[in-house]
Amino acid sequence: MKNSHSPRVALVTGGAGFIGKNFVRYLFDQHPDVKLVNVDSLTYAGSLPGCPEDGDRYRFVQADIRDRERMRRVFAETNPDTVVHFAAESHVDRSIDNPLSFVETNVMGTAVLLDAALRFWNGRRDVRFHHISTDEVFGSLGDAGFFDENTSYDPSSPYSASKAGSDHLVRAWQRTFGLPVTISNCSNNYGPWQFPEKLLPLIIQRALTGRELPVYGDGRNVRDWLYVEDHCDAIWRIVTRGGVGECYTVGGNCECANIDFVTMTCDILDRIRPRASGHSRDNIVFVKDRPGHDLRYAIDASRIARELDWRPAHSLEEGLEKTIRWYLANQPWMEEIASRKYAGERLGNA
Ligand code: NAD
Ligand code: DAU
Repeated sequence: MKNSHSPRVALVTGGAGFIGKNFVRYLFDQHPDVKLVNVDSLTYAGSLPGCPEDGDRYRFVQADIRDRERMRRVFAETNPDTVVHFAAESHVDRSIDNPLSFVETNVMGTAVLLDAALRFWNGRRDVRFHHISTDEVFGSLGDAGFFDENTSYDPSSPYSASKAGSDHLVRAWQRTFGLPVTISNCSNNYGPWQFPEKLLPLIIQRALTGRELPVYGDGRNVRDWLYVEDHCDAIWRIVTRGGVGECYTVGGNCECANIDFVTMTCDILDRIRPRASGHSRDNIVFVKDRPGHDLRYAIDASRIARELDWRPAHSLEEGLEKTIRWYLANQPWMEEIASRKYAGERLGNA
């Protein structure tokens, strides 16, 4: 069934995190007819800088998606016709250190939200529940091939297994209860406001402070990089025009081995901000591999291109330069995180 949905009130979960915040900004700036409710519990990964100020069109609600009563009240008080669900524990290495919190938020939290949406909407069809998921649910590719909408699930980490569980729940709520849902499975995002536990901001931050730059294993693992603004555009197209009950794989068409990605980052950084001596790339070190490290992710995004006319607008070089310039201009945000939340130490049980 084809979709034509015009959101009036969008409830965004996890809108104080990396992608959610970029999506809230995208909607707030580019779709002035839509009201926004941002529900986020502000874990270590969430922060308010970069979000709009509370006002007529935007409201922030600090709440945990696992809290059933609270979620029912949020729906009743804000009357959304659209949910865009980002809130999750998102870092693979932390899922190795503390897997149960991933099951609690990603699986139970999603179930609580589905239940609240189903009760509140009570059979309405002019509503949408869009679930943001990951290509990691498909496991690992070898040297050839791509993930697409028909790829079987085969997750490797507690993170990806918990996201796979949440995807199954979303489909079950559609098939069993008729909730109008859509799902997207996306590749690695990068851009402004990404928490510096993730590869790119970690490398930028460590390079700026003259530290070693850790690359897991032999650096030959491949990721498909997507600039976050392009992801926001894809999500909007799916929410407003995607088929109900359908899933879309979204990727950057930018496959890159980690060692090449880190080297490229170092070289762009040194060009923008020349060092007094030496090169950032000289500080790259190969360190013990991540347990269960998937070798390669790559997305076939031809369905969303064909049906919703979406293509990524940024090349890897353009996106990297924009991102690096953003981090250089926003050092206080990074320094605050480094002093209060996370200083760049190795995570993931190594
Ligand atoms: P993030 O860790 O930067 O942000 C997650 C946000 O969710 C934070 O603001 C956090 O406070 C909030 N949150 C966590 N637990 C919560 C809870 N119980 N209740 C309410 N809020 C809670 O994550 P991200 O990288 O922006 O990822 C967002 C979503 O996109 C996730 O679902 C992730 O699985 C998915 N995704 C991420 C990527 C990527 O490359 N980052 C790629 C594909 C899919
Ligand atoms: O593919 C989508 C996924 O991308 C999302 O679902 C996840 O939420 C997001 O965190 C991301 O997962 P990755 O594990 O791919 O991202 P991360 O930035 O942690 O690592 C990227 C690659 O770089 C991965 O192969 C591991 C490697 N790595 C990571 C770190 C933190 C290093 O080599 N060194 C590091 O210090």
